[in-house]
Order: sequence, then structure tokens, then C-alpha cells
Amino acid sequence: MSVNNIPMLRTEKRAALEDTVARWKAAGQRVAFVPTMGALHEGHLSLVRLAKQHAERVVVSIFVNPAQFAPHEDFGSYPRTLEADLTKLQHAGVDLAYTPLADEIYPKGQDSDIKAGEAAKGLESDFRPHFFDGVVNVVARLFEQVKPDIAIFGEKDYQQLKVVEELVQTLGLPIEIIGAPIARDAHGLALSSRNAYLSAEELAIARKLNVILRKESPTPSSRPTAGGGEILRSLDYARDDIKEALLEAGFDKVDYVEERWGRKLAAAWLGKTRLIDNIEI
Ligand code: PAF
Repeated sequence: MSVNNIPMLRTEKRAALEDTVARWKAAGQRVAFVPTMGALHEGHLSLVRLAKQHAERVVVSIFVNPAQFAPHEDFGSYPRTLEADLTKLQHAGVDLAYTPLADEIYPKGQDSDIKAGEAAKGLESDFRPHFFDGVVNVVARLFEQVKPDIAIFGEKDYQQLKVVEELVQTLGLPIEIIGAPIARDAHGLALSSRNAYLSAEELAIARKLNVILRKESPTPSSRPTAGGGEILRSLDYARDDIKEALLEAGFDKVDYVEERWGRKLAAAWLGKTRLIDNIEI
């Protein structure tokens, strides 16, 4: 739907972003927004394509948000490929790339401490307790600046999608949140900027994550139990089974395997790289 035979605009400035979006809205055009941290791959471009189906104008932000990284995490080494990202966005027909510096998002003296809601409990938060508060703070600020009609979030970060849906509801924002299906490589590996960290050997193991998640677990009754007669709940059984299979496949550590929102969700480590994925049950 997007109207696009003019070159993509790019700004680092909130005021320029707001002026442009206001002009579009005054002309009756709907605005879809895709927030990213850059290092763009086909998964991000699929979000852009979805955005273009829903609105006349598409804004993409590129901002590596320090607030969602703990001090020991990879903020410093997170891949930054701005020029290549901008070329991809231009080719994808994006109208405006917003590439703010930190001061534009976190002006001094304007701290906010929005807390992530119920959806943030468990799963990622058990292992990255800072993460969703960092996400909701940056997303709320970006929403306030971009004022989109629609915002697209990938289903790969399924819990994040749920946290953002809850945020919009809690803040009463007139923004429609749309989840985009997970983009995968030919082996089913969910595309992620962090896949760039994987060695060839690790990549081969990483590709087993989705395969193992998809495997049907045998029913609990068909598995002998240590205590003889102890009844395992099917979820516990499936969870342990999947964890075991991941470790056997070569993953170094499994943070969680859980079922929620009609999905089976997992996070596991390969060396220094943490991968997440989920599938519909
Ligand atoms: O999913 C991401 O890339 C980030 O968490 C987001 C939504 C851009 C916020 O920094």
C-alpha cells in the first residue's frame, strides 16, 4: 500500500521525525512503525513488507537501546551495520529511517521508569531481569515520538510482543500492534542479528533448535518414571525431554523450555550466543 517512488528520508532528530509524520497524517495517510536495533536481515525486511500492507507510510527506527542490556551483556559488541541497513531499508521501500542518538531518546533529566507488566513475568525475565523494563521504556518513547497508527513486532520475540501489547493497553495508546510470523532460513533457524556471532559449527547446532522444538514428545505414560507410579504432568515431561535433546544436540545450556500463549518457547546457549525460538503448539 505504501506510496514510494521518492528516496527514503533519514533523520537523527525527533523534531524532523515528528514534522514529517504530522504532514503525512494531515494528508490522511496511515503510518506503520517497525522499531529495530539494526543489523538488519531478511526477518526485519519481512516486518517492513507487512508494515507496507497496512499503511501508506512506513517508519523504521534503528537504535541499539542500552537500557535493555545488562552490564555483562553484548551492548558493546552488538553488530552495528548502519550504512548497509539504510541501503536495505531504501530498497525495501521504507519512507523514513529514524536513527536517533541516545540523547534524543533519553534526554538528560527526563528519566521515566515505566515497568513492564504481567506478560513480562517468567521466561526471559528469569534470566534477563532488566530486559523488559528496558524494552518498554524505549518502545514507549519511540511510540511517543513516531505516533504510529500501527506497529509491527516479530513473533520470534514472542514474550516481547505480548509485553508491548500489554504496554499499549495500559498506557491507552491508539496503536494497533501486529505480530509478524518468524522468518527462518532454509533449515528452519529463526533469523536473528545475533546469529552473526555463530561459528560454522555452532550454526549447524543452532539449526537443530527449531527441529527439536517441533518434535512431538512421547506421552508421559509411555515413559518409565524413576519413582514407579509417579505421574509426571505432560508439560514437565515435554520440557525435560526437549532440554535433554537440546543438550545432546550440542547446546551448552538451556535457560528454559516453556509453554505459554499456545506456544512452546525456548532459550538456549551456544558458547557466548543465546538463541530464542518458539513454535505454535
Ligand atoms: O526487538 C528488538 O529489536 C528490540 O527489543 C526493540 C523492540 C527494537 C526495542 O529496542
